[in-house]
Amino acid sequence: MGPMSSFPVARMRRLRRTPGLRSIFAETSLEARSLIAPLFVKAGIDEPRAISSMPGHFQHTLESARKEARELAERGVGGVLIFGIPSGKDEAGSAASSASGVSQQAIAALRDELGDDHVVIADLCLCEYTSHGHCGILNDDQTVDNDATLERYAEIAVAQAQAGADIVAPSGMMDGQVGAIRTALDGAAFVDTPILAYSAKYASSFYGPFREAAEGAPQFGDRRAYQQDPRNVEESLREVALDLAEGADAVMVKPALPYLDVLRAVKEEFGMPTAAYNVSGEYSMLMAAAERGWLDERAATLEVLLSLRRAGADLIITYHAKKAAEWLA
Ligand code: PBG
Repeated sequence: MGPMSSFPVARMRRLRRTPGLRSIFAETSLEARSLIAPLFVKAGIDEPRAISSMPGHFQHTLESARKEARELAERGVGGVLIFGIPSGKDEAGSAASSASGVSQQAIAALRDELGDDHVVIADLCLCEYTSHGHCGILNDDQTVDNDATLERYAEIAVAQAQAGADIVAPSGMMDGQVGAIRTALDGAAFVDTPILAYSAKYASSFYGPFREAAEGAPQFGDRRAYQQDPRNVEESLREVALDLAEGADAVMVKPALPYLDVLRAVKEEFGMPTAAYNVSGEYSMLMAAAERGWLDERAATLEVLLSLRRAGADLIITYHAKKAAEWLA
């Protein structure tokens, strides 16, 4: 018997019949090398400390960070993104740019551990280092002083490059940060250090668990005067255009899942190397559901990561990196 309808039925299911057919017609792929794993390294602790809202993640010692980085590399993960948690904080976030600061020590240790087949990216911001928890230097009225902050970012970038960072990734959302950092790096003879710009970074509720992990929650107010409003997408295209004009080598959209439209728009408009940051809250919500048996962790994780590739991400920064790499092997 033929089809029940009088019009010819398009046989879409023909190419879905077997795993082999589905595989040769797949439009998108997901590989471990496209994943970047965030690592938190804390000064002055003897043992790694579990982060309660992010199962499987720790505030690392230098030693445990090395071990973790090695395991990630063995699984084929492309690189690590380093966040330092200093022993002391002050108004200027001094530890962020100190040559002996925890982030510089971590960068140097992981650079040494990983070799040139894997990449060490340094997150460049002040919120983990300032006593008030904001991403910059404060004015007397408690707002963030954009241009005073740029001077600090320039110092941090040079310290991170000196420590051996393969890439610096400014995440503070100050205007002109990419240009200021590029100028500083070039002036210190780091012309070959690329900038991965957190270009489209939203003021998001999904950063909650990260702020526990990195101890960088704002002590008053919020970040809406410098991070983007979730109602906007065209603004993201302007942010990316500015970062590219200032010298960004690659751009990022953050968070990932609630902003897939932004990711697609950025990739389509600029065609530049584009990263998506699958942030802490995205990880925590999936893991919480998986712990309760409400979602299958493996299937849901791989589906999420694939969705980011499909939306246009070349690179995915994700707390799922280690397990995903194992599953993809
Ligand atoms: C620092 C920074 C944050 C994240 C990455 N870099 C926190 C923030 O902006 O409040 C969040 C990452 C995550 O949630 O996984 N500016």
